[in-house]
Amino acid sequence: MRVLSGIQPTGRFHWGNYFGAIRQYIDLQDQADEALYFIANLHALNTVRNREELSQMTLDAALDLLALGLDPERATLFVQSDVPEVSELCWLLMTGTPMGLLERCHAYKDKKARGLSADAGLFAYPVLMAADILAYDSDVVPVGEDQVQHIEVCRDLAGSFNHHFGETFVLPKAKVLESSAKVPGVDGEKMSKSYDNTLEIFEEPKPQRKKIMRIVTDSRPMEDPKEPDDDHLYQLYSLFVDDAKREEMAAKYRRGGFGYGEVKKALAEEADTFFAEARERRKDLEAHPERVREILGDGATKARKKAGEVLLRAQENCGVK
Ligand code: TRP
Repeated sequence: MRVLSGIQPTGRFHWGNYFGAIRQYIDLQDQADEALYFIANLHALNTVRNREELSQMTLDAALDLLALGLDPERATLFVQSDVPEVSELCWLLMTGTPMGLLERCHAYKDKKARGLSADAGLFAYPVLMAADILAYDSDVVPVGEDQVQHIEVCRDLAGSFNHHFGETFVLPKAKVLESSAKVPGVDGEKMSKSYDNTLEIFEEPKPQRKKIMRIVTDSRPMEDPKEPDDDHLYQLYSLFVDDAKREEMAAKYRRGGFGYGEVKKALAEEADTFFAEARERRKDLEAHPERVREILGDGATKARKKAGEVLLRAQENCGVK
C-alpha cells in the first residue's frame, strides 16, 4: 500500500491542522509500506501571490512537519514544484478533462456563486491534484472530507485515460481523516484560518497563554454543574491529556464550583508540555537549514524517479513519446 498526500503551505499550522490531519499522516508513516507527503506550493500559488511569503511558507511547512515527527527515514517529504514531471502529467490529463466535471468542483463553484471571477489555476486545481496522486501510483490518499470530491475527479480522469489509451494509472482510494477529534477555535467555532480563531502549534508559550486566557466562555455562575461534552474549552483540554486526566476534568465540570480560568490555565500547561519536544526539534532544525534542504532534496530525487516512470508510461500510451 502506497500512501500519498499533499499539504498546502498557506500559513502556520494550528491545533486544528495537527489533530485533524498532521498527526494522522505521521501515524500512517508506520502503517503504510510507503508514505509520500509533499508541500503543495503550486496549489498555494493560486492564493499566495507573493514571492517571499510563498517560499517562507513552504520552508515553514517542512520545518513544522519534521518537527512534529514526520521522519524522512520512514516517509518521503518533498516540495511539489521540485517534481516537474507532475506538471507535464497534468497537461496530459487536462486534454481529456470535461469542463463540466471541473465546473461542478466546489472551490471553483463557490467562487463563481459569490459572483467573483476565477483564474484558470483555480478551475484546473483538481487536475493538478489528480496528477499529484497518479504520478506516484498512489493507492491511498488521506484527506479531509472537503477533498473527497477531488479524489473522485482523479479516479474519473484516471479511469477514462486507462479506458482510452490502455492501462496506465492506478486508481486511488480516499481515506477520509478522522475528524472525531473536533477542534474548536478561541471563539468556540471550528478552528480555521479563515475564521481567524486559531491557536498555532509553534507559537511561543507566553503569547499563546494570553490567547488561551481570552477563549470565549459562557457566563454561567461558577457554582453551576456543567456538562463537559458541550463545552469547547473541555474539548480542547481533552485533546492533550490521557483518559485519567480527562475523567478528572469531566467530574469537575459535573460537580460545578470551579472557574473557567482554572481550566484555561490547565489547558495552556498541557498544550505547552504536549508540543515541548516538537518545539525543541523545530529550533534545532531552524539552526540547520542545510539539513532541511538535504531532506527535501533527497525526497524530490526519490519522488522524481517514480513520477518519471509513470509519466513515461502515460506519454508512450497516448503517443507523445
Ligand atoms: N488540495 C489539497 C488541500 O487543499 C492539497 C493537495 C494538493 C493534495 N495535491 C494533493 C492532497 C494530492 C492530496 C493529494 O488540502
